[in-house]
Amino acid sequence: MKVALTYNLKKEESGKPADYCSEFDKEETVAAIADAIRSKGHKVDLVEVSSCNLFSHFRHHPVDIVFNIAEGKSGRYRESQIPAILDLLNIPYTGSNPLALALALDKTLTKKVLISEGIPTPNYQLFRMGREALNPALKFPLIVKPNREGSAKGINLNNVVFDRVRLYEEIDKVINEYKQEVLVEEFIEGRELTVGVLENGKTTIFPILEIDFSTCTKSNEYFYSWRVKEFQGNADLGLTPTFYCPARLDKEIENKVKEVALRTHHAIGCFDVSRTDIRLNKDNVPYVLEINPLPGLDPVESNLPMMAKAAGMKYEDLVGAILMSASERSASLPRSAGRAEGGI
Ligand SMILES: Nc1ncnc2c1ncn2[C@@H]1O[C@H](COP(=O)(O)OP(=O)(O)OP(=O)(O)O)[C@@H](O)[C@H]1O
Ligand SMILES: [Mg+2]
Repeated sequence: MKVALTYNLKKEESGKPADYCSEFDKEETVAAIADAIRSKGHKVDLVEVSSCNLFSHFRHHPVDIVFNIAEGKSGRYRESQIPAILDLLNIPYTGSNPLALALALDKTLTKKVLISEGIPTPNYQLFRMGREALNPALKFPLIVKPNREGSAKGINLNNVVFDRVRLYEEIDKVINEYKQEVLVEEFIEGRELTVGVLENGKTTIFPILEIDFSTCTKSNEYFYSWRVKEFQGNADLGLTPTFYCPARLDKEIENKVKEVALRTHHAIGCFDVSRTDIRLNKDNVPYVLEINPLPGLDPVESNLPMMAKAAGMKYEDLVGAILMSASERSASLPRSAGRAEGGI
């Protein structure tokens, strides 16, 4: 097949906040995915979407399918932008559709769906203006997060607060810096888990990955903050969490966590692949924090490839499986069902 790999390249932007490009991909990651696709016998076009007119690009460079890891340009629906354009152009692509991508990017809307499905998620309150009265049912400590960011942007040690004064300070900070509504959640003390789902003909739930922050003593970072994600493995900064895959869990709890992740994948309507972030409280209740329908695919640093490796799956087979899942899904659907061809 002829495959286009769509991505946003991570690059330093002067005058922008340090985490401005955190969601975007490094050249090494893009190259690794492209090599993996080539290793399966396909041709690859690299398409950096930030500076590309996709309509004219694909008119001049037609492809059979797109392997999409692009986060989009900006805004509330950014992860949906590339899939929406591809839908319009009638080009199949890997991963979820615009609806699931926009939903998953909005943490509060995701939580509403989870609650309606009976899936545990931390108690929360959404702050739009910043001055709303705190719901007295919420118990400190609370964590303050931008409602629609990824890669832990805007989530640092200071974001966990123990009193109202600090709570409103952090809410103001997030509103000012990220220009969006703020999700305040009860902070779940307990183990950090993440669960990968891959639809490769069957549905595979990878071994659960546990991230243990007790080895981050030098930094005292005790959850998956932006600094831990951005500088993961940096011993000088003390950002060296320990990864256990499979997680250190009893079989019964492992099954419960996997079931919750799979139900989340289906509830949000994800395709091909997803990674669900979970905190297990001291009573072993798995609280879903969020789902990532575009999980990081860096072969060394990203969580999903770590899980695939623990399952005995090579990196190129993981990438190949995502591609084949999308290809088979699109083959089972009429290409232009209900639509006129061309005209764009
Ligand atoms: N309610 C919570 N209780 C405990 N820890 C939390 C909670 N919410 C977030 N965290 C911590 O902050 C991290 C990042 O939060 P979250 O997954 O919501 O952000 P994100 O930006 O969407 O992350 P990703 O990088 O996976 O896209 C979590 O992995 C967890 O360590
Ligand atoms: Mg997360």
